[in-house]
Amino acid sequence: MDKNNISIIILAAGKGSRMKSPKAKVLHSISGKPMLYYIIKASEEISNDITVVIAHQKEKVQAEMQSYFKNINFVVQDTKNFPGTGGAMKNVTPKNEKILVLNGDMPLITAQALQGFLDTDADIIISIFNLKDPNGYGRVIIDENNQVEYIVEQKDASRDELLTSTVNAGIYAFSKAVIEKYIPLLSNKNAQKEYYLTDIIAMAKADYLNIAPLAVNEEYFKGINSKKDLSDSEEIMQNRIKTEWMNRGVIMQLPSTIYIESSVAFEGECIVENGCRICGETLIKESHIKSGSVIEDSVIKNSDVGPLAHLRPASFIEDTHIGNFVEVKKSFLQNVKAGHLSYIGDAEVGSGTNIGAGTITCNYDGVNKYKTIIGKNVFIGSDSQLIAPVTVEDNVMIAAGTTVPSGLIKSGVLAISRTKIRTIVGYFFKHFGK
Ligand code: UD1
Ligand code: CA
Repeated sequence: MDKNNISIIILAAGKGSRMKSPKAKVLHSISGKPMLYYIIKASEEISNDITVVIAHQKEKVQAEMQSYFKNINFVVQDTKNFPGTGGAMKNVTPKNEKILVLNGDMPLITAQALQGFLDTDADIIISIFNLKDPNGYGRVIIDENNQVEYIVEQKDASRDELLTSTVNAGIYAFSKAVIEKYIPLLSNKNAQKEYYLTDIIAMAKADYLNIAPLAVNEEYFKGINSKKDLSDSEEIMQNRIKTEWMNRGVIMQLPSTIYIESSVAFEGECIVENGCRICGETLIKESHIKSGSVIEDSVIKNSDVGPLAHLRPASFIEDTHIGNFVEVKKSFLQNVKAGHLSYIGDAEVGSGTNIGAGTITCNYDGVNKYKTIIGKNVFIGSDSQLIAPVTVEDNVMIAAGTTVPSGLIKSGVLAISRTKIRTIVGYFFKHFGK
């Protein structure tokens, strides 16, 4: 179907009380992005006319979504007078004849999973699935002729209706005429005193409209109401992300213990060992990330990192060895070895340089951050501190235990700051006895 022939409405105005959170439900994150992000992203693949209905924390929701998407419309729901998913549709005026309505709490949805709505022709298409545990969902009542009769919300359902395992997944396609006719007719005479979008079904049925049920897969249509649902969906999303990267050539050891956000990219053959967490706008090319490492918003090329290393945002690492207990932040390292226990922050480190165990860039004076620039072929002995702003030129040797003050260390020198050792004969036995 042509992108210009379909309008999409995303309902994102609800409070999400069952999340028990000060944060709006649709902004809770899945694999590093707010759940609403995924729904808009999938929608953009099939429509040029996307409207997001907002109310609860509307400024925040709108601002956050506008940081990702340019061409989406926002409509504010009057939640005071017209609460509920039906109320959310009151101020919406879709352009096209076919209208998809999506709940804003279904981040597992993809454009492909929505294809069935585009391919089916009916006045109303509703998505359904059967669940062993239908708790929380509206039940879809189907008559003996396999026709959809109505949807009843859990809180309004009779004991018999609750036994139905067929549930409303929460995505619908309507013709424009259906929206225009039935939204104004919705009432709030129900347990929650809300205007239910789902009440359209019974009214349309009474008017003999064509209502098509579309069987869908929970893996793509799962709704999130609680923090348990959030973690269940996170697991599905993580499996999807990791399977995709393994199919594209990444080796993962014990992938169930690895967390990779949706914005991370790999190139070439990479190995990710167990227990790693890789976040944000990270690119990893031809590299080996060892067990227990955390990588955030960094670029790693042809390098090995970890075990138990931490690359914080804006680290650029190429042809480099980062060993255990090394933390790097906002730094550029090319052909460098930093094997053990270091902090490298706001630094540039040149090719051939070795950073000894326990080296610290002292980048912060409690008020401002300063840069450390280390040249090529510098040997920094263990347990050295470099007090930024400091520049160490090429071909310098810094002796173990040296505190390098702010300023400049010229090329070719040995820099050493040590107090002379004192040995006191017999002290050990005096202290501990013979
Ligand atoms: C809804 C359906 C239910 C279905 C389930 C699928 C209704 C009445 N019920 O129930 O049949 O099984 O989804 O997940 O539609 N929203 C607004 N404005 C509001 C209230 C909600 O925009 O006033 C938005 C929410 O932000 C959310 C979506 O609509 O993104 C669904 O709301 P929610 O309260 O989660 O509905 P459910 O109770 O899950
Ligand atoms: Ca829901």
